[in-house]
Amino acid sequence: MNELITEPKSESDNEFEPKILGFLCNWCSYAGADLAGVSRNQYPPNIRVIRLMCSGRVDPVFVMDALIKGVDGILILGCHLGDCHYGEGNYEAQVNYEMLNNLLKYVKMDNRVDLGWVSAAEGTYFAKIVTDFTNKIRSLGPSPLSSKSNPSKELLLNMKAIKQVVYDPRTRKLVGRERFITLHGNVYDEKIDEDEFALLLRDSLEAEYIRNQIYFYLKESPSSVKDMSEKIGIDTKTIFEHFLVLRQRTLIDLSEIKGYSPVYKVIK
Ligand code: FES
Repeated sequence: MNELITEPKSESDNEFEPKILGFLCNWCSYAGADLAGVSRNQYPPNIRVIRLMCSGRVDPVFVMDALIKGVDGILILGCHLGDCHYGEGNYEAQVNYEMLNNLLKYVKMDNRVDLGWVSAAEGTYFAKIVTDFTNKIRSLGPSPLSSKSNPSKELLLNMKAIKQVVYDPRTRKLVGRERFITLHGNVYDEKIDEDEFALLLRDSLEAEYIRNQIYFYLKESPSSVKDMSEKIGIDTKTIFEHFLVLRQRTLIDLSEIKGYSPVYKVIK
């Protein structure tokens, strides 16, 4: 990629220079970035680019890994909708992005990831998108997961839980079928309304997120339903139901009885 980027600034104590990771599709956005370079469009030097063949190849696990490592912002760019060189890759990227965005809201990290479309002819637009995103992240300040921020144990644990949700084959199957089911219908020829599917997906993601939070907390130390309910801030009935599911999945089991309370531990 030919780059014409503004001179890097040295980072002083009161001048935060965000670390931004860009996932660019080969055929449009990366070519747009190239055009920005040869056209001498200036944009901030904060972005580091990973070129992928299609925006649909951006696995949400990649995004979670980068965020957990302390990257301040992530920009995913692909061809405009309808122009993907593989047909519908950018629609898949959009579905993945929305799913991830919903999950990242639980930890207030959703505004650090953005998705956009840049064609090979839009060098100036590429420079604008990168500039605007960099300014937005600069105004947000360093990621709470960066080494400078001394990340809290609770945030790290919640991020691990989100990563596990997006990695889980159950989530991937559900999200991967979204477009087909809402556009063409399921095997019974039943077409599910987009809003109805979004609600179903939201509930399913929330349940998986809570289960993974419980799992990672139990990995830290065995706990009763009551103690877990206090740690996560969710009522005991809901927590108990999730304990049952985790037990059915043979991920946790009874550890001991303390007083009158059963205490559970991770077994896998
Ligand atoms: Fe560019 Fe699919 S090839 S988004």
